[in-house]
Amino acid sequence: MSNPIEQIRGEALQSLASVTDSETLAAWRGKFLGRRGAVGKLFGQIGSLPQAERAAFGQQVNALQAELDAAFDARETLIQSQAMARDLEEGDIDISLPARPRRRGGLHPSTRTHREFQAIWADMGFHVYQSRDVEEDELNFSLLNLPPHHPARDMQDTFYTADSRVLLRTHTSPGQIRAMRELGAGGSKPIRVILPGMCYRQEQITARSEIQFTQVEGLAIGRNIRMSDLKGTIAEFAKRMYSPEAKVRFRASYFPFTEPSMEVDVECFLCGGEGCRVCKYTGWLEIAGSGMVHPTVLRNGGYDPSEWSGFAFGMGPERITMLKHGIQDIRYFWSNDLRFLQQF
Ligand code: PHE
Repeated sequence: MSNPIEQIRGEALQSLASVTDSETLAAWRGKFLGRRGAVGKLFGQIGSLPQAERAAFGQQVNALQAELDAAFDARETLIQSQAMARDLEEGDIDISLPARPRRRGGLHPSTRTHREFQAIWADMGFHVYQSRDVEEDELNFSLLNLPPHHPARDMQDTFYTADSRVLLRTHTSPGQIRAMRELGAGGSKPIRVILPGMCYRQEQITARSEIQFTQVEGLAIGRNIRMSDLKGTIAEFAKRMYSPEAKVRFRASYFPFTEPSMEVDVECFLCGGEGCRVCKYTGWLEIAGSGMVHPTVLRNGGYDPSEWSGFAFGMGPERITMLKHGIQDIRYFWSNDLRFLQQF
């Protein structure tokens, strides 16, 4: 075989066929394809050839290099897969070893309900307005039409700070004033928000009442908002939250900051209105307080009540969460007992 290219090709492919481990393979690569390898030497010879032969020779060496590169890759893949098959067979990898479980946190059941609420209200065009937990007496009460010594203040026993003008909000309603003042641009813009958050009341802690709980307040202000808007909006929410067939009913009630005021009931989603222990055999569950924003409250928020109107509501997510999961005692919510929380 006089052609040096053919000679090296034959030699390289023949020795590669007997390579069975990666060290020998690396040595093979050095010998033929390395910088000082056989192919490299062929490239070096180009300069000493007669001018007319150089191009053709160069092309052949290039082709040889490409061929040997490809042969190397194929061999490498083969050796690796053989090694893996051997490892599996010899049992070097113990695939029966149990994995270490990953410890993952979970969402608090109340957070889950809040997220469900938020998704539904967002879909219906309501922004989330984050108000504050530590509030002024004026906003929590006076500006909501509950002046000092108003008897309805007794409905909400209050935690005060050392400064008697500052308290822990007893409901999310003071956020109505903040939202109107901040978003209403001096009573010139409509508003559609929900205000979720923690509320606090100085109460005896029992299975049914806690000193802290969350609420989701809703507020819509516009030029032509009527009671039918409130009813339709809440009915739509109930359909999305409970069931497409959920029926709601409205009962006249009293809140100082709404007029007229209504309590909202939804048909018991556990018994479908038949009557059961959860709904105390009435077929209905109370889900919200609501009403048309009182003119005085509109004025306190910067709106002219002769031109603007609105509705508001307040819902209690814990109650809904309790009903949904059959939780009998509200004290589980904030006592941070992992045995309770890990169930969700
Ligand atoms: N703030 C009232 C409560 O805590 C609920 C409510 C909100 C009623 C908005 C009417 C309008 O009981």
